[in-house]
Amino acid sequence: MEYNIVAKEIAQKVFKDSGLPNIGKASIREIKKLVDNLENASKVKFVRMEMGIPGLPPAQKGVEAQIESLQKGIASLYPDIEGMPILKQEISRFVKNFIDIDVNPKNCIPTVGSMQGAFASFLTCSRVNKEKTTTLFIDPGFNVHKLQNKVLGIPMETFDVYEYRGEKLRDKLESIFKTGKIHSVLYSNPNNPSWVCFTDEELKIIGELATKYDVIIMEDLAYFGMDFRKDYSHPGVAPFQPSVAKYTDNYILLISSSKAFSYAGERIAMMVIGDKLAEREYPDLKRYYSSTKFGYTMIYGTIYPLSSGTSHSAQYALWGILKSVNDGEYNFRDDVIEYGKKAKLMKEAFIANGFEIVYDHDLGDPIADGFYFTYGYPGFGGAELLEEMLYYGISAISLDITGSTRQGIRACTSLIQREEIPVLAERLALFAKDHPLK
Ligand SMILES: Cc1ncc(COP(=O)(O)O)c(C=O)c1O
Repeated sequence: MEYNIVAKEIAQKVFKDSGLPNIGKASIREIKKLVDNLENASKVKFVRMEMGIPGLPPAQKGVEAQIESLQKGIASLYPDIEGMPILKQEISRFVKNFIDIDVNPKNCIPTVGSMQGAFASFLTCSRVNKEKTTTLFIDPGFNVHKLQNKVLGIPMETFDVYEYRGEKLRDKLESIFKTGKIHSVLYSNPNNPSWVCFTDEELKIIGELATKYDVIIMEDLAYFGMDFRKDYSHPGVAPFQPSVAKYTDNYILLISSSKAFSYAGERIAMMVIGDKLAEREYPDLKRYYSSTKFGYTMIYGTIYPLSSGTSHSAQYALWGILKSVNDGEYNFRDDVIEYGKKAKLMKEAFIANGFEIVYDHDLGDPIADGFYFTYGYPGFGGAELLEEMLYYGISAISLDITGSTRQGIRACTSLIQREEIPVLAERLALFAKDHPLK
């Protein structure tokens, strides 16, 4: 190709040395490594959109509280595996303030990132009923969750939600729940990678069916409050972050600190178990655990053997952040809204150069601007497009690895700096020149 900026021979050598059987279908971490190698070999700085790393400094209140706790000597003490009481109290306040739900602090548990919360939840939920063997993913999704099920040996079922929005979701979910084999469902809201956001009507459908078929809903709120079309950031004031917790008692909320508070490095998140679910007795749990009570089993049966709790100083950090957010002193949306602003400019550059947004609508509305968006180019499959764009110094991940049934790419808006957006636009224009649309 005439306008590529990474020499063909260099790129192909790096591709070959990587040993990856299909570049376009590589995982996020594999792409990251490949692009590091491409940058080294070609001396071209890539526009990097593959990894969902926060592109902002960590929430300062967290840093301060964490340092202070370390200086006081907290590092030598094992944390309580239920979580620090003052943190549990702030998590309970947080979900009241920003989702408008009441949860006993007892059932608000810190975890080692939301990844551990999900792992512990899959493990526990898959054992509540011996007839229920399978996790359902409302896709597209974050493929590490599937990896967790794979290593746990838990069967999975998935479907791409794009074709089943609104009332159509009811029939689809019901047809799967009716089989009687689903123990739990996971989805992220806003959705990674498509940035689709469920409406209250859809969450109500999910909640009602969860109650009817006795299924546990794991709601992954990794991008809490980041549907920037609404402002969910004022404590105790509507509108609130939409959640299935309003519509069923069978819920576990997984709220990451990584993106909303830019605290990914300390691996700290919140697991919030609905009070009724936490108290619920599941006799089949006895096959693996000493107790039949769900909440007790989650903490003393699953989290205890996994990590014996969560880093003490990181708990202080989260406490510091939540306290300032709950007190209305720190508005995290003011920081993270930058992702939405960049998304708007980036999408404009893609569209101006003949690209299309793949998940382009959220029911009747155009998809919101946020942490991720998806794109495609006429005539290209996702994996093929990903590989081809590497020659133009642009990296991202293919939708193939997200459970999507659509062809395209996921772009993350976090790492790119504002001043790099014109560079992205130039490279997209070079790509378009080499691949003119008919
Ligand atoms: C949808 C989703 N869930 C969970 C996570 C992981 O969260 P944590 O860093 O708290 O483990 C991510 C991270 O990218 C994500 O995109």
